[in-house]
Amino acid sequence: MSRDDTSHAACTPTCATVPEEVDAPDRAGRLAVWSPPPDRAGPSAARRSARVVTRAGALARRQLRTWGDRSVRWQVDRQLRFKPADRFGHELPERKEFFRRAWHCVRFNAIDGDYAEFGSHGANTFRMAWHATRLIGADAHLWAFDSFAGLPEGADERDAHPRWTPGSMATSLDEFHRLCRRAGMTSSDYDVVPGYYRDSLAPSAPGPRPTTVAVAYVDCDLYSSTVEVLSFLEPRLRAGSVIGFDDYFCVGPDGPSGERRAAVEHSATSRWRLVPYVQFGWAGMSFVVEPATELAGCDRATHMP
Ligand SMILES: C[S@@+](CC[C@H](N)C(=O)[O-])C[C@H]1O[C@@H](n2cnc3c(N)ncnc32)[C@H](O)[C@@H]1O
Repeated sequence: MSRDDTSHAACTPTCATVPEEVDAPDRAGRLAVWSPPPDRAGPSAARRSARVVTRAGALARRQLRTWGDRSVRWQVDRQLRFKPADRFGHELPERKEFFRRAWHCVRFNAIDGDYAEFGSHGANTFRMAWHATRLIGADAHLWAFDSFAGLPEGADERDAHPRWTPGSMATSLDEFHRLCRRAGMTSSDYDVVPGYYRDSLAPSAPGPRPTTVAVAYVDCDLYSSTVEVLSFLEPRLRAGSVIGFDDYFCVGPDGPSGERRAAVEHSATSRWRLVPYVQFGWAGMSFVVEPATELAGCDRATHMP
């Protein structure tokens, strides 16, 4: 086949019927512009039609710019506003993303261990944690620690907070199991330890408890409850475990309150350093656990060199 035959074979069938001199690109690749037939138009007619074409083009470009400007302004305006659903709409997805990352992190680092949750009543975070373990392929057993009778009376003046009223946020044990089953969990996937932490987390408490915790979720709000949780967790954590605090950025009448106050005080004597990890929702914060003796140059407060 000759060179000409090859180029022809690459054309579409309709392409072959178009006379070569019409609309053919010139050597520089520009398309020929239409002009009146030479017998009907002199040079001034050609100039007039060229002016018309130029004006129409400018008008079209201006119109497009106006539409473009309006569309950009409209989009910016829309992005500056909130929808009513934005008020709480980010809270659950951000927790969900925290669980995905936490389980990815511990699985990638080969940290074997269970999921322990402290404050489980509506089973929202418990179900998310469960779905994350299935997503990531972590073979973890889940533990829920809750009174199932709502928040206890504050045991310390550091528990003071305008939102934390004794007895609030209670879900019955039956309802909790129903929610877990509906999510697809079987009785062998999780354990529930009902009761107040002063009893259920005490070293002398009867019954099985997790031996190693890969991911812990602390959502018990109160300072005194978190103090009990962190003492319970201390020997069960491993380098690389992740702890999430649902209400880390809460402030009481005298300053930092609840979970943050307990976590900071606990870290002063803990064998673990809490390295900032994922922040989620408006109040949530999480940490990766590191042995406090490692990285001697690491500042205890900022966790940075
Ligand atoms: C904010 S709610 C937990 C919400 C849950 N994570 C969810 O996603 O549905 C806090 C829970 O912590 C529990 N709690 C707080 N202090 C406790 C303690 N000392 N002993 C047992 N349960 C406690 C309360 O029963 C309450 O249900």
